[in-house]
Amino acid sequence: MSRYWSEVVHGLTPYVPGEQPKLSNLVKLNTNENPYGPSPKVLEALRAAVGESLRLYPDPNSDRLKAAIANFHGLQPQQVFVGNGSDEVLAHVFQALLKHQAPLLFPDISYSFYPVYCGLYGISYETVALNERFEINVDDYLKPNGGIIFPNPNAPTGIPLPLADIERLLQANTESVVVIDEAYVDFGAESAAGLVDRYPNLLVTHTLSKARSLAGLRVGYALGHQGLIEGLIRVKDSFNSYPVDSLALAGAVAAMEDVEYFEMTRQKVIASREHLVAEMRKLGFDVLPSGANFIFARHAEHDGAELTAKLRDRNIIVRHFSKPARIAPYLRITIGTDSQNQQLLMAMREILP
Ligand SMILES: Cc1ncc(COP(=O)(O)O)c(C=O)c1O
Repeated sequence: MSRYWSEVVHGLTPYVPGEQPKLSNLVKLNTNENPYGPSPKVLEALRAAVGESLRLYPDPNSDRLKAAIANFHGLQPQQVFVGNGSDEVLAHVFQALLKHQAPLLFPDISYSFYPVYCGLYGISYETVALNERFEINVDDYLKPNGGIIFPNPNAPTGIPLPLADIERLLQANTESVVVIDEAYVDFGAESAAGLVDRYPNLLVTHTLSKARSLAGLRVGYALGHQGLIEGLIRVKDSFNSYPVDSLALAGAVAAMEDVEYFEMTRQKVIASREHLVAEMRKLGFDVLPSGANFIFARHAEHDGAELTAKLRDRNIIVRHFSKPARIAPYLRITIGTDSQNQQLLMAMREILP
């Protein structure tokens, strides 16, 4: 606390990211990173970008990257916005598109950064309860609103929502922006990217942190109608003209272009998830159906906090959310390599009687 703070700072409740431990011997299954490294072509592009040209500012419009992203999704570069991780993209989305008189709607159990942006930008919001199976029911969002946002698959549940439901929501909700946060879409949900040509109020956000193994590079993007993208560019150019640095641009272009590597690693993660889910169920866990690179699981006889602590004693870190109470029994476990998943299962067998 400092008397020099602006008034707004006193009222902030910042997001708390998962731990990035300094110890290297931990099995780190707490922040939904990819267990595989980036494509060798990305590493090559990064090495090639290290040089004298770093004295220059990067391209403020990230044109090459926008072209690579547009090409991957079959869209036009004017339908693409890029930023320093999708967290930054989302921050601009909240400010540029979601701050209105009527409240923004998002699920009561969802990405915990959403209420933080609302606090930062003074956006009024209402949460909409997930149903008893932890699913999003789009009909619950058909009420006056200043915007709608949710991840697909949702986080931290991992449950995917069928594209038909998203389209039904878009048909019924035409007066405000609908944001689908597709951070985990490549692990088992249908992308809404193909709908942006048809719905001028649809914005889809993506990240290179998950399926493209580049959490350390900080690149994310949004896809939408040119009008929405122009709004985002206005905010970005009032904040930081160069959010994506030269190295990130070079690496991200190579990542978007190496479709083969992307396909291979995401299929490996999906296969490992299916195996892990089956084994966890054998141990008595109730595992929600996941379309993500993590699972959300609880054990009827063991408390979520207790299991998290016992795993930590065995050098395995997973994520536990103590609030809201409904999710306190659950553990959010990132899919690791098969060997990491085996270590997790072995530890669970020791912990469970
Ligand atoms: C639902 C969701 N959206 C967005 C992000 C942000 O990803 P990044 O800022 O790494 O692009 C995360 C990160 O975990 C997430 O879980």
